[in-house]
Amino acid sequence: MATDTVAIYPGSFDPITNGHVDLVKRTLRVFDNVVVAIASNPGKDGSLFSVAERLQMMREVFKGIEGRVRADSFEGLLVDYAERKRATVIIRGLRAISDFEYEFQMAMMNHRLKPKLETFFMMTGESEFYISSRLVKEVVSLGGDVSGLVPANVLKKLSQKFKGGAPRADLMAPTASAVGRNSERAHGETPGHKSKGRGAQR
Ligand code: PNS
Repeated sequence: MATDTVAIYPGSFDPITNGHVDLVKRTLRVFDNVVVAIASNPGKDGSLFSVAERLQMMREVFKGIEGRVRADSFEGLLVDYAERKRATVIIRGLRAISDFEYEFQMAMMNHRLKPKLETFFMMTGESEFYISSRLVKEVVSLGGDVSGLVPANVLKKLSQKFKGGAPRADLMAPTASAVGRNSERAHGETPGHKSKGRGAQR
């Protein structure tokens, strides 16, 4: 009897961008189901949106395909969560060479922890390769327009968050030297995301 294939797409998704959405849709061409999983790190998270807010935005975005795409959050090791969800594959997006080193380390570590769980990398879509959650937040916090880069509901939530507020220093781009050490990665936070002890948000 054939069993549905399940892929896990983990990340911070703070917030979800059109780059993430593109990756989910393309993953559905290969796998029956995708679990889009927010890694939650209670107490140590410098995220703009709470996990509940991020989940709600995602559920709105995937309305209509919720039979195949499930938004969820997890604590602890990704590999353990993936096993509980009966996923066979972790999906990660790659935008540039600079993404590779950190992604490679993570894939190797996950492989060591659970050898049967594979990591598949997908190249980001050509119209989304420069989008990151961190840049989106920075641009909005400084009054810039990110329409077309994030889903409409996310755009609305972002403008509500920053309405009348001063730009947050923790959302600003890292200095050039910091970029050299911790380059920005595909569809999420930089390798230095605070919640994972890695620096600025992706
Ligand atoms: O979008 P991000 O922030 O780059 O995603 C990183 C994420 C969530 C995939 C990674 O930090 C993760 O898997 N966290 C869960 C904890 C874990 O399993 N850590 C060991 C990874 S080798």
